[in-house]
Amino acid sequence: MTDAMFSPAYLRDPHPALRALREDGPVHRVVLPNKLPAWVVVDHEAAKAVLADERVAKDYHRLGEIMSAKLEAAGGDPRLSALYRGNMLVMDPPDHTRLRKLLAKDFTSRRVEQLRPRVERLTADLLDAMPAHDEVDLVEHFAFPLPMTVICELLGVPEGGHARMRTWSQHLMGEAKPGDALTASEEITAYLTALIAEKRANPGDDLLSALTRASDDGDRLTEAELVGTCLLLVVAGHETTVGLIGSAAEWLVRDERTRARLVGDPALIPRAVDELLRLTSPVSLTTPRFTEAPVRVGGTTIPEGEVVLVSLPAANRDPARFDAPDTFDADRANSHLAFGHGVHFCIGAPLARLEGEIALRHLLARFPRYARAVPADDLRPRRSLTVTGWRSLPVVLDPA
Ligand code: HEM
Repeated sequence: MTDAMFSPAYLRDPHPALRALREDGPVHRVVLPNKLPAWVVVDHEAAKAVLADERVAKDYHRLGEIMSAKLEAAGGDPRLSALYRGNMLVMDPPDHTRLRKLLAKDFTSRRVEQLRPRVERLTADLLDAMPAHDEVDLVEHFAFPLPMTVICELLGVPEGGHARMRTWSQHLMGEAKPGDALTASEEITAYLTALIAEKRANPGDDLLSALTRASDDGDRLTEAELVGTCLLLVVAGHETTVGLIGSAAEWLVRDERTRARLVGDPALIPRAVDELLRLTSPVSLTTPRFTEAPVRVGGTTIPEGEVVLVSLPAANRDPARFDAPDTFDADRANSHLAFGHGVHFCIGAPLARLEGEIALRHLLARFPRYARAVPADDLRPRRSLTVTGWRSLPVVLDPA
């Protein structure tokens, strides 16, 4: 049954396979397409338990050893990309705490709120630049450039680097041949290392310059951690939000009632964003963790030294937690796990919510009748197992 989890049909719509899996139990052994044997958690309660369990760890030295050994034994490629080095997403406390503290103040709701005028402007400009009556790709010209520009401006990545960032990032997310992730990982590391040297020589009023100062201020951030942190922010800061905006726009094409409600009452949009996060789960599998000891979860004991992942789309539509889980309901008490849970809970959640809210508000205010320009079956899903969404979403913004 777990084979169905990674089939082409799963990439288009993971929910039939995940529903069947969840009905069969909360925890399953799977083999990922890169041959890595792992355990996947598919219900809400077990997902929260695993994500909060200190024995389910992330330290990248040990994680790297475990994953590489398992991949090698299975005949896969044991080399891991730079996403598995020196960044907080693959660290445990106290290193995780040290790195997260350095960034936390820049991503609070209050700090992020200061970005609102810039995000509003960017959103309006992107919509202005698109043809209203001809077919246009909403992912290429809206869902992608908005978060990419925001995170690159925040970090201080020059405009000339944005397009390359996108390609590297897509390769790192597994949207290309397996070897491409390793090449991308070297190229993006070299690019960011050079950019950091430039910020050191000519500091600006950006996050990268501030982090460079923090690293020069003593032992708060090593050079490798500085590069790792930038890499994580660039990749995590846009791939996920591209998925959210594209999937949300597509959901509202199919769900006419919800669209009409949001057009009529835009004050509902912030809550709608969270409900769309629950329904579309931009991150499909959490990053890998490993068991430091045998861990009993959902009635299953996962032995020590095993790789564990959580399926967020499965947890987010668990009928034990959400009534009518496949239906949009802006009024539900929304305890979705789209941003994860526990110490690694998404640091960018306030920024993602701001971008999602502004993107939807402008799109619906300006083009309330936008329509898909191709049949639903012709939409191409992203090919990644980590992030969900559409590779492209052809629409006509203002149909005759
Ligand atoms: C962590 C989802 C946007 C930065 C995470 C995790 C999830 C997630 C599920 C935890 C992964 C795990 O535990 O394995 C999302 C979604 C987003 C989004 C669905 C958009 C809709 C952003 C943005 C940023 C960002 C805009 C930019 C700052 C991060 C970072 C972490 C993270 C740095 C690691 C936190 C840690 O390890 O403590 N995100 N994210 N994310 N996210 Fe996001």
